[in-house]
Amino acid sequence: MIRKVVRSFDEWRAAVRDLIARQVPPEFVEWAGSESDGDLFTAAAPGDAPAPAERTAIRYTAPGAASPAVAHPAEPPAAAPELRLPRAFVEMLATAACFSAADRWAFLYKLVWRWQLGEREVISAADTDGARLYAMVKAVHREEHDMHAYVRFRERPERAGDPRFVAWFEPTHDVLPQVARHFANRMGRATWMIATPAATVLWDGERLHDAPPRLRSAADIEDSGEALWLTYYRSIFNPARLNADLLRSHIPSRFWKNLPEGAIVPAMISGAANGERRSGQTGTVGRRSGATTIAVTPERAQPQRDEPDTLDQCRRCDLWRNATQAVPGVGPKKARIMLVGEQPGDQEDLQGLPFVGPAGAVLDRALAEAGVERDHVYLTNAVKHFKWELRGKRRLHKTPAQREVSACHVWLEEELARVKPDVVVALGATALKSVMKDGNATMSAVMDAPFQHEGRWVVAVYHPSFVLRARDEESRQQAYEVIVAGLREALRLAPPRSG
Ligand code: URA
Repeated sequence: MIRKVVRSFDEWRAAVRDLIARQVPPEFVEWAGSESDGDLFTAAAPGDAPAPAERTAIRYTAPGAASPAVAHPAEPPAAAPELRLPRAFVEMLATAACFSAADRWAFLYKLVWRWQLGEREVISAADTDGARLYAMVKAVHREEHDMHAYVRFRERPERAGDPRFVAWFEPTHDVLPQVARHFANRMGRATWMIATPAATVLWDGERLHDAPPRLRSAADIEDSGEALWLTYYRSIFNPARLNADLLRSHIPSRFWKNLPEGAIVPAMISGAANGERRSGQTGTVGRRSGATTIAVTPERAQPQRDEPDTLDQCRRCDLWRNATQAVPGVGPKKARIMLVGEQPGDQEDLQGLPFVGPAGAVLDRALAEAGVERDHVYLTNAVKHFKWELRGKRRLHKTPAQREVSACHVWLEEELARVKPDVVVALGATALKSVMKDGNATMSAVMDAPFQHEGRWVVAVYHPSFVLRARDEESRQQAYEVIVAGLREALRLAPPRSG
């Protein structure tokens, strides 16, 4: 019997290559190991030290051989079969390796062994082993999805060296590394930790690190923001609109206990059942008549904070928290034309440059058609951090609120004062509001012709993503032509300086 100790998929893969090269059937291998003692983020060295049992001679029936054969693991057969698996199969094996089952490594090796024997049906759901493989892959994907959806970060008091956000989760399968990468790609630079019963991951703002288990339950997390969150949750809870069955079917009960709101939801559901439906939302809101607006003073909505020295340090609104980086404008120091967009998108956020994603491609085409060189214009945005919401695994653009546009305006002002363009092209409504410093400015009022504002020309055209979202080819073409015409107009008003 050969004993293989593996702690990760990479170690298992190295072990399998070795076993296949020596033609060791599954029933002669004893597998041991767990994910939790390995390093979650660095693959183990493939030349793993063999367990002592491996050094001894083994006896097994070689495939196709009539009588028992003897082999020595240290001396692989001269004509070792090559291990070639289809990429899709390897991906399924890697995913299934995250499935928590005592026999996972043995089972996966059995699949590979059968494949090597020519049993191609092993990767079909119609095969008994294949069906189990598919079920494992499905369960792991489901667990990843649930973890993305139900991990709740709680904010902790600032303490040097400690992560700012901490979450506790009890995954059924070993999906922590994938899920950690998902959050690392999407949560910007704020430091966080996800603790599970078997392992912990930490994000220091730049890199992921793994650590032994640190917490025993969600109760171990000190949370400064939780009381606030629960007050907010209570206030948005509308008993009149409660559909308890839907709520339960959307969030499986095993997640409730670790959701902060889980503690108060049962009481709110029973309150709703006992007559609170009539009173609408919270007591205070329910007692108001007519359309309800809760007045908030500008100072409370946007308290005065210290002015940041650089865009990178800007904390004037909360968008920096979930962005990878601030995206400053780019272009010649004294460009005659400045193009102002809305805010960076997914690609811009990752690359730190404006208009490098799909909207940028439309803009490039329009610039070329209008005869404007991209290198001659200064490109920037009204809002410098990417605002997004998660849909599945995609970060989808979310329109910035007026208070975020106003908070960011200082940076646009700084760019206008420094570059001193003769013409500003506002790409879409958000840009126009920022350029005009008027939250009520509308495109329809000004799109017809350039106009003067604060001593310079302003040209208002559609945003390039409007072209991408247009419902049919005709509207797409019309919107695109408006952009091209506006850029031509800008060029007419401010031709490049000669020399
Ligand atoms: N949309 C914008 O408004 N700006 C960018 O930089 C990218 C997309």
